[in-house]
Amino acid sequence: MEAFRENRTAAVTGAAGGLGACFSRKLAKRGYALLVIDRREPQVQQLGDELATKYGIRAEALTADLTDDDAVKSVAHRLATTPSLELLVNNAGFGLAKYVIDADVEQHLDMIRVHVMATVRLTCAALPGMIERNRGSVVNVSSLAAWTPCAGGVPYASTKAYVAVFSQGLQDELRDTNVRIQALCPGFVYTDFHGADGMKSFDPEKVPKQLWMSPDDVVECSLKNLSRRRVIVIPGWRNSILGRFMQMPVLQPIVRAIARRERSHDTEAGANERGKTDG
Ligand SMILES: NC(=O)c1ccc[n+]([C@@H]2O[C@H](COP(=O)([O-])OP(=O)(O)OC[C@H]3O[C@@H](n4cnc5c(N)ncnc54)[C@H](OP(=O)(O)O)[C@@H]3O)[C@@H](O)[C@H]2O)c1
Repeated sequence: MEAFRENRTAAVTGAAGGLGACFSRKLAKRGYALLVIDRREPQVQQLGDELATKYGIRAEALTADLTDDDAVKSVAHRLATTPSLELLVNNAGFGLAKYVIDADVEQHLDMIRVHVMATVRLTCAALPGMIERNRGSVVNVSSLAAWTPCAGGVPYASTKAYVAVFSQGLQDELRDTNVRIQALCPGFVYTDFHGADGMKSFDPEKVPKQLWMSPDDVVECSLKNLSRRRVIVIPGWRNSILGRFMQMPVLQPIVRAIARRERSHDTEAGANERGKTDG
């Protein structure tokens, strides 16, 4: 990766935790000025202050809930009017391990808003300046789940598939420029992601330890690959091999069968109850 210059700015969404905080720390260490964006005001502010003090960089915290279109538009405006913007990391996201019929439809739609709509709007805001300067990168955090459209993971897999396909096609449109698009597709990463409310029916203990990675290794892999033309980046050699198999259409039924989650009895009961009350 080429040397970072002080007047380069990186914007990271979902910066207050997990992979986002890790991206922010590593970029600050490399001398980027930072726009750290998250919905948790004290945490993102604290991160910005910490990075500014520790690395002597400019770090600004923006509080935005990316399910709110007005908040996304305001962040987009900020990106479009930041002439030193060199890197955008569309990282904010969350999981939802429920059958479509059992999930609150608003949770499903919020996932589309955060993973898809915010990613598209922020990317479209960042690109014109990057194209004009003929440099810059957008990292869209997808997932290996993009190739696992299985029962119990439909909203997540479908939104992450959108992110991967969007990134691939977009890089093709930008082939005559030095602007790079990456779809980062991690497998299982040790963050707070699996502890969230929507992931209660997911048991991390059932996943072999060998398939887990640290945020540090995932982010390092993403940053190393920024100067390459590869769009789909799958961190870790095990995941990389797994990902290649998962992308083969002929193996898709097997992948879906392995990844399939049984319907949680709790939510089934809840849905039945709702059905009774709704008449
Ligand atoms: N961990 C994994 O195994 C894994 C694997 C593949 C891909 N990923 C992807 O990696 C990305 C980062 O996840 P992570 O593992 O670092 O999880 P995390 O530790 O839960 O961090 C996600 C961050 O995104 C923020 N966020 C969620 N919804 C938001 C919203 N509406 N507006 C603004 N910020 C929002 C979260 O804030 P709150 O804490 O307030 O919700 C949190 O700070 C996600 O896109 C995820 O899908 C994760």
